[in-house]
Amino acid sequence: MPLRVFLLCFTSSAMKTLPILLHPDPRLKKMCDPVTVFDTALQTFADDMLHTMYEAPGVGLAAPQVGVTKRIFVMDCTTKDEDQIREHKPMVLINPEITWSADETSVYNEGCLSLPDLYEDIERPASVKMRYRDVSGETHEETFEDLWSTCAQHELDHLDGILFIDYLTRMKRNMMTRKMEKYKKDLARG
Ligand code: NI
Repeated sequence: MPLRVFLLCFTSSAMKTLPILLHPDPRLKKMCDPVTVFDTALQTFADDMLHTMYEAPGVGLAAPQVGVTKRIFVMDCTTKDEDQIREHKPMVLINPEITWSADETSVYNEGCLSLPDLYEDIERPASVKMRYRDVSGETHEETFEDLWSTCAQHELDHLDGILFIDYLTRMKRNMMTRKMEKYKKDLARG
């Protein structure tokens, strides 16, 4: 999800900015495979994903968006108040699953780094509990609320090949896909 507020960058020269795939792309529609190896390559990939997300800037990024069909996403929904130095909370969620979701729902005007500048109201459970592993393979369970809940569900969807536009009517989805096709064509032309 894109973040429209200013972000202090979490960067290091060793980190790579990964190219983000744009919709429509068949790689964004794939069911991703669980992560089975927790090694330094995974740690590096997670760092590169966080770096790429902050650079975009966005509040979440899923592995398939950078062409890796593995069940891993990163997020940081901390926002900056005008006069306050914000503190980052970079999170890496591996093999995440929802273990509980609230009956109450909330609506958020969602966007996606794979569909730049397109936003739509999406209704989702207002809070969810997720079980996931961190980069060292340790299991955690955490409850997410507000934007964190929306973001976590949006990113988890990516791992199942689902985009937020899949919740819209076919007419709206087709319209947004046509806009993206045009955007990509213009981008390719330079
Ligand atoms: Ni997205």
